[in-house]
Amino acid sequence: MTNVNLTLNGKAVSADVPDNTLLVSFIRETMALTGTHVGCDTSQCGACVVHVNGESVKSCTMLAVAAEGAEITTIEGIGRAESLHPMQQAFHENHGLQCGFCTPGMVMSAIELVEKNPNPSEQDVREGLEGNICRCTGYHNIVKSVQAGAQKMGE
Ligand code: FES
Ligand code: FES
Repeated sequence: MTNVNLTLNGKAVSADVPDNTLLVSFIRETMALTGTHVGCDTSQCGACVVHVNGESVKSCTMLAVAAEGAEITTIEGIGRAESLHPMQQAFHENHGLQCGFCTPGMVMSAIELVEKNPNPSEQDVREGLEGNICRCTGYHNIVKSVQAGAQKMGE
């Protein structure tokens, strides 16, 4: 077992976990924050994306112990039902989701993309989100949502 201490959505947390615990399991099982999803076992789908020190990371590819001391932000940390993050609002308004399974990872990746490129072209969005797979939408409305979210984040 290893004692892991990190900041999760602005709150200091600490837990003893087996050494091989993945960050996504730490978030979902140890910390009971189930907004971060697991959609594959091959590091391909992006449903598990969170921010680690401000960078998008597939949390199924990182051990919890490797996040010692880090600032982790999950989908629960960026907005609330009554006050959505501008990117969440844009997905809502532009029908950027259907089943919603990929959406937490999409939104987390999209926020980082826009923080680095505040006015992304359609191509920029498609390339920036190529690590996130959606089985439902055909991506068109996701691209629209991210561009609308970029505008809202700039207001
Ligand atoms: S669960 Fe699919 S990339 Fe992490
Ligand atoms: S909305 Fe269903 S997987 Fe993307």
